[in-house]
Amino acid sequence: ATERTLSIIKPDATERNITGKIISKLEDAGLRVIAQKRVWWKKKDAKDFYEVHKDRPFFKDLVSYMTSGPIVIQVLEGEDAVATNRKVMGATSPVDAEEGTIRKEFGVNIERNSVHGSDSVENAKKEIDMCFAKKEIVG
Ligand code: CMP
Repeated sequence: ATERTLSIIKPDATERNITGKIISKLEDAGLRVIAQKRVWWKKKDAKDFYEVHKDRPFFKDLVSYMTSGPIVIQVLEGEDAVATNRKVMGATSPVDAEEGTIRKEFGVNIERNSVHGSDSVENAKKEIDMCFAKKEIVG
């Protein structure tokens, strides 16, 4: 089915000026960018977005990292967009990610892994609502 998912190009990628290379991989996988903005999160933005991870040992570092530079937030649309995006991203850690995936090619380590993608259709809806107004999404 046609779905939507939320994608974030993280500070390690904006810093290295490789957002276009990452978007090409998303588009090549059949995903369509139907909303996009470049923002610099405050601590509160990162904490709210990653609230599910608040008790994890990596949470504090994650919030620091995600507020260390600009990010590009997108809504992607396509056939099975959530799973398709997760496939093209690859495993969380670049070490475990398959050849050809974004994280394998561009990820630095398990934290600086270049992209985020929603892990379920339900979470995609929540994350999209958190990041975009309805009129900013042009499908
Ligand atoms: P993301 O898919 O955005 O979800 C949570 C993020 O926390 C993850 O990508 C990484 O950037 C970061 N992170 C850092 N350490 C870990 C870890 N041990 N396990 C999972 N995520 C981690």
